[in-house]
Amino acid sequence: MSTSHVISSTRTTGEPGGNILRYTLSERVHHWLGFFFYLYCLITGLAFWSPYMYWLAALVGGGPTARFWHPWFGLGFAASMLWMYKMWWRDMRTTEADLRWKKAIKHYIENDDQNLPPEGRFNYGQKIYFWLMFYGVILLLISGVGLWFVESIPWGLRWLRYLAVTVHVIAALATIGGFIIHVYMSTAMVRGGFSSIIRGEVSALWAKTHHRLWYDQVTKGTSSEKYPR
Ligand code: HEM
Repeated sequence: MSTSHVISSTRTTGEPGGNILRYTLSERVHHWLGFFFYLYCLITGLAFWSPYMYWLAALVGGGPTARFWHPWFGLGFAASMLWMYKMWWRDMRTTEADLRWKKAIKHYIENDDQNLPPEGRFNYGQKIYFWLMFYGVILLLISGVGLWFVESIPWGLRWLRYLAVTVHVIAALATIGGFIIHVYMSTAMVRGGFSSIIRGEVSALWAKTHHRLWYDQVTKGTSSEKYPR
């Protein structure tokens, strides 16, 4: 197992009822910065995309204001994604534990967590979401800059303009799909996940239930060898 970014602290304890530090303050701040930048781009982007959703622009000061700030907030989102990449890329690499988890995904869908193979700090689904947002923001950034300075693209190369609109919308829709699932999973489905990204801590029981390999690492320093295929 290759999780390299293991968080531990003086508060870390394996005792039942004890708490484990899951996200440092810096991780939480960057997560929420990314969230708010993305939310702004989402609201304003949907307003630009369809007249049915133009009313959303009224929530953020009207159409011209939204058009002015959308690309700047987009840059903010790209910067926080870069920061999240710096913090989490090691933890987001696919491991053998992920492949075992993926094979047993039917238990996850059926809410039968007892029969799921143990996972590290992040499970395979969380990793897919991370990489979707990572590659999504690269496409949004490149195509978004194209749309921002669209008049600089010569008419002879107008296919680039069409390409920029198409890529921007497809990448936005793909990330929106992931974002909806992410919000649902971390607020409604997995209890305790939301408070961990606010307060930083989870109970030892929560860690043991949802991320057993990570729990073992932070509490005892053992590895995934305990869980043969
Ligand atoms: C990463 C940096 C980003 C930049 C530089 C950027 C820039 C732009 C620009 C300049 C436009 C054109 C507005 C117009 O029609 O005049 C646009 C449209 C749009 N943006 Fe972004 N954007 C970025 C990120 C995002 C993100 C994160 C989303 C998330 C959902 C998003 C969703 C949209 C949508 C749906 C449209 C409407 C496309 C259409 O009307 O066909 N953008 N963006």
